[in-house]
Amino acid sequence: MRLAGRLASEVLDFLEPHVKPGITTNQLDQLAHDYMVNEQKTIPAPLNYAPNGYKPYPKSICTSINHQVCHGIPSDKALKKGDIVNIDITVIKDGWHGDTSRMFVVGEASIAARRLCQLTFEAMWHGIMQVKPGAHLGDIGWAIQKFAESNGYSIVREFCGHGIGQGFHEDPQVLHYARPGTLDELVPGMIFTIEPMINAGRRDIKELGDGWTIVTRDHSLSAQWEHTVLVTPTGYEVLTLSEGSPALPSFVTTTCC
Ligand code: MF3
Ligand code: CO
Ligand code: CO
Repeated sequence: MRLAGRLASEVLDFLEPHVKPGITTNQLDQLAHDYMVNEQKTIPAPLNYAPNGYKPYPKSICTSINHQVCHGIPSDKALKKGDIVNIDITVIKDGWHGDTSRMFVVGEASIAARRLCQLTFEAMWHGIMQVKPGAHLGDIGWAIQKFAESNGYSIVREFCGHGIGQGFHEDPQVLHYARPGTLDELVPGMIFTIEPMINAGRRDIKELGDGWTIVTRDHSLSAQWEHTVLVTPTGYEVLTLSEGSPALPSFVTTTCC
């Protein structure tokens, strides 16, 4: 899981210099696909992924732009200056999954867009910092919800983090809103993702006709960051870090144990 996690993060490092005005999300998908398959010898988990009730996902990465919340399907549309885009990578290495996403700002974006990306990053880390044996899943959700809502944002409720391992989406569900002290108790060895989706406007979403892409109902901007996290005997270890991972928020004291 450590190797799969680092490799997933390294796909984002590899893509970063390409995320510029004019590139299409299909080109990013192709670049990522070839890097995973040919260089890393990993399997892009999204490709043909078909959970219950969904048609097979047609691409190797997810690219969710501006008011798209998650599961955006790469297309021939080019990125333009001022867009914010979430790129979500899941690789399989030796049968194990690593799942991580980051926000990218295309060219220069508005102050409002940059603030949403930064505060969503901080919200994810506030959630991660709750992770230790004896804490509860509800503590993670509460830390994220309290931070996001006190900054005037809303939390998407229909999608959540998830257990991960030999399966892509395993139990438990990791909600990004909750009351403290509720839900499952954390135990060393558990591995799950924390991946808050935070909207600048209302929390309501809808699914597009492609059967995958989720957008905000009010078309407000949405951001998401994701890490895969291990519960250790003393705290947490973030598995999806690499050389190119962004600098930690100042309130984060450690990424491991
Ligand atoms: N990577 C997403 C997650 O964080 C799931 C994408 S499913 C796909 O859980 F089929 F759209 F790729
Ligand atoms: Co995930
Ligand atoms: Co993901």
